[in-house]
Amino acid sequence: MTTAQPLTLITGANRGMGFEIAKELGAKGQRILLGARNAEKGTQAVEQLKQSGIDATLIPLDVTDKQSVQAAADRIATDYGSLDILINNAGAVFDGRQQPSVVNTDQMRQDFDLNYFGVVYMCQAFLPLLKKAPKAKIINVSSMMGSMTNALNPQASVFRAVAVGYQSAKAAVNMYTVQLAKEMTRDGLPITVNAIDPGMVATEFGGADPKQVAKMGAKPVDEGVARTVELATSPDDDSNATFTNTDGTVAW
Ligand SMILES: NC(=O)c1ccc[n+]([C@@H]2O[C@H](COP(=O)([O-])OP(=O)(O)OC[C@H]3O[C@@H](n4cnc5c(N)ncnc54)[C@H](OP(=O)(O)O)[C@@H]3O)[C@@H](O)[C@H]2O)c1
Repeated sequence: MTTAQPLTLITGANRGMGFEIAKELGAKGQRILLGARNAEKGTQAVEQLKQSGIDATLIPLDVTDKQSVQAAADRIATDYGSLDILINNAGAVFDGRQQPSVVNTDQMRQDFDLNYFGVVYMCQAFLPLLKKAPKAKIINVSSMMGSMTNALNPQASVFRAVAVGYQSAKAAVNMYTVQLAKEMTRDGLPITVNAIDPGMVATEFGGADPKQVAKMGAKPVDEGVARTVELATSPDDDSNATFTNTDGTVAW
């Protein structure tokens, strides 16, 4: 990134890890475009960031709605002309703890609409703007829950977890990450595409109570975003097509 103040769009940034990423990147001087599907919640989040001196702007954005995604891209094209960093963070689980033999397929579709197609819509709509930046990054907030290797490893923290719709959607995000990264390289574009695993983090994810999940071993939010923040703030990190967390490479 050659600009001193990268322009960064984060989806689902009104709360949880998205908000923390916005806060930390904003504190490091990045110009924050805070994506939120609920205007009221988004406005409150932007106000909170501004009170800390962060340059933040609300971008109304429902990533499951192609029109909403395109409207956001059009607005950013008009107002800024390019985008340096896209962080696809919005996500949720709809089929928690359902066994594959009986999982509700409507909920599986919701998992895919948000966690997979949301990422695809965002990448496709924002690539024209990312191509206009001198150097750009796409960071997809995935999950170890999407790792086949870890799902099969009895020692892995996710071994007993079952949410096959959510897990499949994150595995699909990983494949999209790899394929898009390869396309960018093949086309000689200075755009990297990487997937991140935050680990189990104490947010309201899946309707959880952050204090309860913290007691069960979930990490504080600042630790959950550490790898994303590191990748988003390392101008010379040209990692591409990787899946990492704070411990290093995560097996696909
Ligand atoms: N927490 C964990 O343990 C964990 C572990 C691994 C991976 N992750 C991943 O980390 C990311 C962030 O999770 P989190 O823990 O911060 O969850 P969270 O606290 O539940 O926040 C999710 C965010 O996504 C937004 N969102 C939901 N549907 C959306 C849509 N259609 N369009 C735009 N935004 C939407 C939510 O907005 P509203 O406020 O309007 O609902 C909220 O801002 C997700 O991709 C998740 O899969 C989380």
